[in-house]
Amino acid sequence: MSKLLIKRFLQLTLLAVFTLAGSLALRGQDQDKGDGRDDIDRRLTHVLANAGFTGRIESTLLPRLGRQLNPAMAKVGQMLWFDTITGLHDDNTCGGCHAPAFGFGDGQSIAIGIQSNGIVGVFHKREGPHNQRRTPKALNIAFLPALMWNGRFNSISGDPFDNSQGFMFPLPEGTTRFPPHDPIIKHLAQAQGEMPPTELTEVAGYTGTKGTPFSLGPDFDQFDDGKGSPIP
Ligand code: HEC
Repeated sequence: MSKLLIKRFLQLTLLAVFTLAGSLALRGQDQDKGDGRDDIDRRLTHVLANAGFTGRIESTLLPRLGRQLNPAMAKVGQMLWFDTITGLHDDNTCGGCHAPAFGFGDGQSIAIGIQSNGIVGVFHKREGPHNQRRTPKALNIAFLPALMWNGRFNSISGDPFDNSQGFMFPLPEGTTRFPPHDPIIKHLAQAQGEMPPTELTEVAGYTGTKGTPFSLGPDFDQFDDGKGSPIP
């Protein structure tokens, strides 16, 4: 056998050994993964069951509301969500920050409000002046007993469908507007709908605030590019 053939033979043998070893290792890994996965599934099922998670929360909406939905009103809500008529200067809307593609949350870490380029929810594509906070997901919020990042809007009974102890909206919103057993405002999200924006920057961004009583000070003024319409 020529030297070249011997070398080739050794190369092929080595390759075969490595392939066999590799496939055995992978099979072993698969088996480990299978066991590990089962274990993770078991632990996750346990955690979810302990937290009362059923995966069917949406089907509980009507019984908990105690009434039917009004499809015409729901349609108005859907249209308003995407209508810039709700923006101070007609250039932003709920859906601009709470994008359906992100569970009605945001594609970027800090919300971009007014003066955006009109692109919603696409990661790294929405551009414009940033606001102060990240937009949380608004999906299924009807079931949350506390809203906003710090939970400051909350149902004192611990149940958003139960207004027997009233809804708490600390300052600057104020706590006294939604007393217990209010005959109209029966749900926490309904109460939030009555709230004005916490800060002008939430709806207006920084533009138009510099040099006005609404300015938050020099730290914020530096982001006012002067291109936005003034705050009325
Ligand atoms: C400029 C971006 C922006 C726009 C526009 C906007 N939001 Fe928000 N939204 C936020 C941010 C930021 C928060 C969290 C604020 C906080 O925690 O203080 C929030 C919180 C919320 C929450 C509470 C969610 C939770 O999980 O706690 C709801 C509900 C909500 N917004 C609904 C709306 C509706 C309805 C509109 C339109 C009328 C709207 N938002 C417009 C940025 C925005």
